Amino acid sequence: MGGGGQSVNDPGLISRTGWEFTYDGVHPDVEGRREALCTLGNGYMGTRGAAPESVADGVHYPGTYVAGAYNRLTTELAGNRIDHESLVNLPNWLPLSFRAGPANVSDARPAPWFGSGQNEILELRQTLDMHRGTLRRRLRVRDDDGRITAIDERRIVSMDDPHIAAIEQVLTPENWSGRLDVRSELDGRVSNTNVVEDRLLAHDHLKPVDIGWSEGGVDWLEVDTSWSHIRTAMAARTHMEADGPVRVRFHSSDRPELVSRILSCEATEGRPVTVEKVVAVYTSRDAAVGRPLESAREALVGVGTFDTLLFMHELAWKHLWERCEIDVVTDGVDEEVIAAVRLHAFHVLQTAAPHVKDIDASLTARGLHGEGYRGHIFWDELFVFPFLNFRFPDITRALLRYRARRLPAARRQARELGQLGARFPWQSGSDGSEQTPTQLWNPRSGRWMPDNSRRQHHVGLAVVWNVWQYQQASGDYRFMLEYGTELLVEQARFWTGLATRDDGDGRYHIRGVMGPDEYHDGYPDATGEGVDDNAYTNVLVSWLLHRVLETRRGFKGHQSEVQLWERLGVTDTEASHWEEVARLLAVPFHDGIVSQFAGWDDLDEIDWEDYRARYGNIGRLDLILEAEGDSTNRYKLAKQADVLMLFYLMTPDVLCEQLEAMGYECDEEMIRRTVEYYMERTAHGSTLSRIVYAWVTARIDPTRSWDLFREALAADIDDTQGGTTPEGIHLGAMAGSLDILQRCYSGLELRGDEVWFDPHLPPAVQHLAFDLVHRDRTLSVELSHDLLRVEVEPGAAEPVPIGIRGHLSTHCPGEVLEVDLRGAVAPG
Ligand code: BGC
Repeated sequence: MGGGGQSVNDPGLISRTGWEFTYDGVHPDVEGRREALCTLGNGYMGTRGAAPESVADGVHYPGTYVAGAYNRLTTELAGNRIDHESLVNLPNWLPLSFRAGPANVSDARPAPWFGSGQNEILELRQTLDMHRGTLRRRLRVRDDDGRITAIDERRIVSMDDPHIAAIEQVLTPENWSGRLDVRSELDGRVSNTNVVEDRLLAHDHLKPVDIGWSEGGVDWLEVDTSWSHIRTAMAARTHMEADGPVRVRFHSSDRPELVSRILSCEATEGRPVTVEKVVAVYTSRDAAVGRPLESAREALVGVGTFDTLLFMHELAWKHLWERCEIDVVTDGVDEEVIAAVRLHAFHVLQTAAPHVKDIDASLTARGLHGEGYRGHIFWDELFVFPFLNFRFPDITRALLRYRARRLPAARRQARELGQLGARFPWQSGSDGSEQTPTQLWNPRSGRWMPDNSRRQHHVGLAVVWNVWQYQQASGDYRFMLEYGTELLVEQARFWTGLATRDDGDGRYHIRGVMGPDEYHDGYPDATGEGVDDNAYTNVLVSWLLHRVLETRRGFKGHQSEVQLWERLGVTDTEASHWEEVARLLAVPFHDGIVSQFAGWDDLDEIDWEDYRARYGNIGRLDLILEAEGDSTNRYKLAKQADVLMLFYLMTPDVLCEQLEAMGYECDEEMIRRTVEYYMERTAHGSTLSRIVYAWVTARIDPTRSWDLFREALAADIDDTQGGTTPEGIHLGAMAGSLDILQRCYSGLELRGDEVWFDPHLPPAVQHLAFDLVHRDRTLSVELSHDLLRVEVEPGAAEPVPIGIRGHLSTHCPGEVLEVDLRGAVAPG
């Protein structure tokens, strides 16, 4: 769940074209959003795009996060002691500031440091270059004595070496000469205060351990997290290139949490002085590390200059883009769409870059870009993995292992519910325990509301769905042997345990759960107790049981398979029970429409127009209604797609086959009716919602789909939830939007080892092109309204079976398939 208000366009976003987002001027109201959108990261760590001279002051929020580095604190809240876990805001490595020396001989005081609020910013332009992975700032500032200095700054978080980040500043005195001081710091005086509500909780996670500096030019800072005892070390090498000699002084605070180096030179009007700060970051969670401090200091020995680091960084980005670019040509406003699509790919890659493979971590809902949702991991991977599966299946594999490693914790959670198998937490962090808060702050009413979203056990179904999709895309049989099948079996055990048979209707029912729509945590007279037979959950459980049974039947008797099934201990009796539950799970319907859960039709309709008129943005109807003394549980409304998740995940054929296997009728007409029904009753209180709606309307109403897609592209750029983007990007929605282009509009679907297409471009899109990797072969896909062209990359790989609208043909490496979408198939 989370906060919400009104969206404001960023008045300073002056252009978004091609590979660049350019911001102009100082706009405190939207600074937090800019910082999130200008975050640089490499899968291992992320640093918000905060100004190096800034501190957390309500406008700016410098934040640096390392994937998987969590800590737990305890807070006394409303009479209860609660433990809460957060991705830790690590020391700030950015600080870099300057000042001019005394203005004249009679004045011994130097000017205040830039950033202390006493300099006037005359010009400021900031550019995020997504192709190079750089953040560039150009500014001119004037101090009280009228001295104007130009700053040209570049920043990277290396995509080449995940432990390295660097800033370069070129300072040019425009109308003065004299002493120039530059201060470079590593600042451990940070805490987790990015999210307003979380400031009500304990938020000091770091204990200082050590600081130091060497005459050789390296400063360091070492901290420890209070509960998880993750040691983090940062070492910085700051170098000043000036015309004359450079003098160096050091400074530290009383407590070992801040280290400062001041470099001074005699600057001359019009002559640039270059300062470079290269930083190494290591934690005790990293592989191949003895003591992080040692590794950080060692990493700086012989490390290159900013330009040499930049060269390798840009090369790494070039290689990523070669695999990941999605080219979309639309009529009208091309550039904005292209830039937004690239921005989404950029942030997905920064969060899920190949370096994440070496870490025990998975994808947080808000990237490495802020502290929204405390850096927890939800089901959002479901929206991210399809983009990765077709480009970097090895990254998906590594991230799925995050779940596999937490099976023992998930088993414990199933036992706590009196069940067998494994139950994954709705919000996961360090060790796989449940991290969902039990209370949600409602800023509208000034009250804490109960948060029962931990009843969303469906997160485990997303895990196994992801396992299945991964193995379809990669053909990674070993993964299924080592981890995948066990995840499937343990989920099957958990869900069949929850399903109880009702002799009245002869069906199995799953009671007391929540679906993806978080606005129903129970019935009006039993709030918080969950709902029964959430259709999304039950259909996916049945789907899962079919997949487990299929996997068991596909057993070929290899020794490793024998050992796997022996270890899992699935008996014929258990398997036949699974088969029965798969067939007899209940799916509720009303008026020929799939009901979100049993009893949905008894709820009241809400007057949407009235609420829109009164509140404008009604995404957070839960907060609005609670403040009015009412409850979302009473109404036929949804925060986000719930039933429609089924149509998002499954093609109509697959879904109908699935529902028919459960004894229900299904046809395209029912699907259309169901989409329209929920479309009118959804608040889109989650950014994930528009992704799903853009997807499910693609065939029914392509123009509407494109509009929804455009709205999804705006979610973070315009902060359409009104205040959530400063707490981090919405990773699931960003990746989900890419997947709409990749899979939805091209109709890309895997059936066994076959790759099928069924293109449906919205009228506004003229051309779409991307590469995808399928079982080690790269396919280049190009699509217009008239033509589909698929080129199989030349090389030694196996031929690919490619299907298009009912016609299947096999293509060798180097071959091109061209299909006239208006009629006949013309093999190239
Ligand atoms: C959505 C969830 C999502 C979470 C994290 C919530 O607002 O309702 O579906 O997992 O945000 O992105």
